[in-house]
Amino acid sequence: MRVVEAFRAAYGASPQTVWRAPGRVNLIGEHTDYNDGFVLPFAVPWGVTAAITPRTDDTIRLLSLQASGEPLTFTGHDQSTGWARYVVGVFAMLGDRVRGADIAIDGDVPQGAGLSSSAALEVAVASALNDLHDLGMTPMEIALLSQKAENDFVGMPCGIMDQAASALCEEGHALFLDCRSLASRNIPLDLAPHGLSMLIIDTQVHHEHAGGEYAKRRAECESAARKLGVPALRDVTDLAAALDRLQGDERKRTMHIVTENHRVEALIGLLRAGAVTEIGALLNASHLSLRDQYEVSSPELDVAVEAAVRGGARGARMTGGGFGGSAIALVPVERLAGVEESVTAAYAERGFQAPRFLPATPARGAHRLA
Ligand code: GLA
Repeated sequence: MRVVEAFRAAYGASPQTVWRAPGRVNLIGEHTDYNDGFVLPFAVPWGVTAAITPRTDDTIRLLSLQASGEPLTFTGHDQSTGWARYVVGVFAMLGDRVRGADIAIDGDVPQGAGLSSSAALEVAVASALNDLHDLGMTPMEIALLSQKAENDFVGMPCGIMDQAASALCEEGHALFLDCRSLASRNIPLDLAPHGLSMLIIDTQVHHEHAGGEYAKRRAECESAARKLGVPALRDVTDLAAALDRLQGDERKRTMHIVTENHRVEALIGLLRAGAVTEIGALLNASHLSLRDQYEVSSPELDVAVEAAVRGGARGARMTGGGFGGSAIALVPVERLAGVEESVTAAYAERGFQAPRFLPATPARGAHRLA
């Protein structure tokens, strides 16, 4: 393993443990997690590998195979910047349960594709520290701690979906998660017997204002829930009555969240019924709702989704936070080439940067490698 070789070269001994945690795509249930709703992500085959040995002092030495130069050294949590904050944030959240460590990181999540490389990094490091220090955290507790590192230390007010997917997913399954009770269930997602495959279309575009818009959506949802007198938009049972009491953006956001939760449940029903091809219609509906009601799509995502469906996909939608990143398309295997051609041609016609295509099979969540 090259991360072990890099660890030995930098620190002069073998790491005590090596953990791997994956990135994710979300099949459906977008922006529902911080509304106490339902999500259905699955882990992708790309992830982060963390090789770690604990230290007896509080120094953190950090090496990434994706960054050049000497290991970064931190003697206080606040010195960290950039990607290192996701790692140091995990240490900060663990507090005096851990001391410092020597760490080497290797990652192969396509950067900027919106596939949660940061959650993979947090969960890989948190899982390794849990193991090394016998902290006894469950995978969900590891996910919650990682989310807290991102909320309180990095300063991104994300929900629990990405970290939970990275910590809990199983190969060949999607993870159905109730983001209020945190009850979860792995749902088989076997597309091949149906002649289908899931194609990730990476727009290779990431809009700078994404973080600010994310926080704004979250605040709008919380404000709408307050006006409706419910703890979260998850609790809206009478959609018509709720929409009657709201206006403007808050009304639109509520329409998306409530119907998106319904779509998650409908999609699970179809999967359980073996009606896999039919989930495509729900993917399309989710995209339109994210585009028109939640307003988190982008021209690149819209063109990817439209061109994929025109090229023969059974359904497609943006996945993740939005404003760039990736779309997913459910594609009959014999139409894969046609869909890629259709999207590539549509991008060229509009003068967009060429997209990247990645086939996604549901992979395994965090696990120890050595
Ligand atoms: C980002 C966040 C998640 C979730 C999605 C939208 O990926 O990290 O918590 O809110 O956006 O579904």
